[in-house]
Amino acid sequence: MPFYDEKSLEVMIDAERLQARIAELGAEISAAYRGRGEVVLVGVLKGSFVFLADLARAIDLPVDIDFLGVSSYGDAQETSGVVRLTRDLSRPIEGKHVIVVEDIVDTGLTMQYLLEMFATRKPASIEVASLLHKPARAKVEVPIHYLGFTIDDEFVVGYGLDMGGKLRNLPFIAVNRADGQPW
Ligand code: IMP
Repeated sequence: MPFYDEKSLEVMIDAERLQARIAELGAEISAAYRGRGEVVLVGVLKGSFVFLADLARAIDLPVDIDFLGVSSYGDAQETSGVVRLTRDLSRPIEGKHVIVVEDIVDTGLTMQYLLEMFATRKPASIEVASLLHKPARAKVEVPIHYLGFTIDDEFVVGYGLDMGGKLRNLPFIAVNRADGQPW
């Protein structure tokens, strides 16, 4: 018996589709960055940790891995636009090829903030890898060079994405169809 109510969670992208797409993204990134110098994958905590773990293993290059933390003010399901850095990178990125790894680009405000901040640190290049994109809610356009899936305007959970801090450990992406918590 899983810890969640199977009738409440509607699977949107199952584990097999996630892994197949991530293998493709890993191959694309490997081909694009081979022989170009130092590459660092920057995961945006907390949501990206599952995607980053799988993406990193699908990349056939000697990459560095770092993390940063952000939080945004406002209600839990919507970015307010005021993004706060809660944990900075552990190493400088000057002269390195940075790939920012996100779970989802929703309004785009978090990614816009991060790209502007990173640009001041003089990396050799910056690109974005996001597992999901919800274009219906975009407030600003941000480039996504490596995109897993475009999804409809639904609040999704699982595979790193949370609802009130929970459900990040689901191995698939799902939508909660229950009125309350599905666990
Ligand atoms: P943005 O700044 O609006 O693009 O939001 C980015 C962040 O909001 C993501 O990294 C997630 O942490 C959170 N977020 C946006 N949409 C969802 C969702 O559908 N489920 C869970 N978290 C989400």
